[in-house]
Amino acid sequence: MEKLRLAAQSASEKAYAPYSEFHVGAAVLAESGEIFLGCNVENASYGLTICAERNAVFQAVAAGQRRLVACAIFVKGNRVAMPCGACRQVLREFGAEMEVLCFSDSAEPVRRSLGELLPESFGPESLG
Ligand code: THU
Repeated sequence: MEKLRLAAQSASEKAYAPYSEFHVGAAVLAESGEIFLGCNVENASYGLTICAERNAVFQAVAAGQRRLVACAIFVKGNRVAMPCGACRQVLREFGAEMEVLCFSDSAEPVRRSLGELLPESFGPESLG
C-alpha cells in the first residue's frame, strides 16, 4: 500500500489549513483501481471546513466511482490521525468493507477495517 501512502502524502501538501495548521491528505482506492485524492479545506467560517477523507470520497464519486476498497490518510509529524466520525460514515456509504490506513512521517501505520472503526453502522441497506 506504499502507492496509496505516497498519494495521501502528496495530497497533504495541498491542504488549505491556515487556521488549524493541521495538514491532512487522503487517497481512496476505487474498485476500478483508480486513486482519488483529497485534502482538508478550511474556511474563515470555521464550521464549513471539509476533511481530507470526505474530499477524496467526493472526488471519486464525481468521477463515477461507487465502490471504494481502501482509504489512506496522511498527517505530518510523529503520530497518526484516525478519521473523524463524520468521515467514517461517509466512507461507509461506498465501502462497508474498506481498509483504512493511517500514516504519519514516523509513527507505525495503523490499519483498520471500516467495520472496526464504525461497528453496527447505518448504511444504504438499512433503508430497506
Ligand atoms: N481533519 C481532517 O481532514 N480529517 C479528519 O478525519 C479529522 C480532521 C481536518 C479538519 C481540520 O481542517 C483539521 O483537520 C483540524 O481538525
